[in-house]
Amino acid sequence: MSTAHSDILVHTETGVTTVTFNRVERKNSLTAAMYAALADALEAASTDSSVRVVVLQGDVTVFSAGNDISDFLQQPPVTLDAPVFRFLRAIATFPKPLVAAVCGPAVGVGTTLLFHCDLVYAGDNAAFSMPFVNLGLCPEAGSSLLVPQMMGYHRAAEALLLGEPFMAEAALEVGLVNRVVPPTECNAIAQAQARRLAAKPLSALIETKRLLKKGQTAAVLERMAEEGTSFGRMLAEPAAREAFTAFMEKRRPDFSAV
Ligand code: COA
Repeated sequence: MSTAHSDILVHTETGVTTVTFNRVERKNSLTAAMYAALADALEAASTDSSVRVVVLQGDVTVFSAGNDISDFLQQPPVTLDAPVFRFLRAIATFPKPLVAAVCGPAVGVGTTLLFHCDLVYAGDNAAFSMPFVNLGLCPEAGSSLLVPQMMGYHRAAEALLLGEPFMAEAALEVGLVNRVVPPTECNAIAQAQARRLAAKPLSALIETKRLLKKGQTAAVLERMAEEGTSFGRMLAEPAAREAFTAFMEKRRPDFSAV
């Protein structure tokens, strides 16, 4: 079965739903409509008994450039009902295994969504970054909690305060990815692992994931709501306005006044 918002492709076969970011000409940056389609796909997959595993993938050249900056300027997510926050809650509470295949840039939410996936395979061209501060913003997706938990505080500070990108091997070292593979094989390897998971008893997968995450989900949702409130407010403030305008005008931002 296949359904699609054309920028988000959703295809289900033998128990595996594959969700593909399909907006390569804009580097798979995510609009509100795409977040809504992603939330719909995850919500449907969580209750559809024929779906056992979900795979998230991009293109061999790019996973996702994060939020679509012009869409963000036009329709900023000011309330926690906004599609981006709906998607983040759906991925944080998704009860079945989630597998990601990441090649090329994974910026902002392109990286932070991975902290909610169970298995992550990265092409050796993968480049992860969380440049929220550089955009006058704060972390989202529970990343202010999950990044220091996984990487340790100082590496998290480098990634989140300096916004330093890190490559696939560094992501492997900190435990964000399971394996680094040739980019052209990445999606196929994620699919193969998803099929292995899909052959296992679903009830045991769901219960094991629930236990692995026990005690964490409530804290993540609480942090996500706090981050979301700050993020929505900061979007309208001068630092983010300057960063976004500079991106659109293809110039360096000037933060001397903010
Ligand atoms: N929002 C809106 N448009 C975006 C975008 C985004 N997040 N990321 C890329 N695009 C657009 C570019 O403006 C460009 O448009 P143009 O062809 O009209 O000039 C097009 O997609 C191609 O991007 P380009 O920057 O030329 O590709 P690249 O291969 O040189 O670099 C990235 C790829 C992802 C490293 C770079 O595009 C980037 O840093 N994007 C912004 C990431 C970001 O800050 N995201 C927000 C996180 S909250």
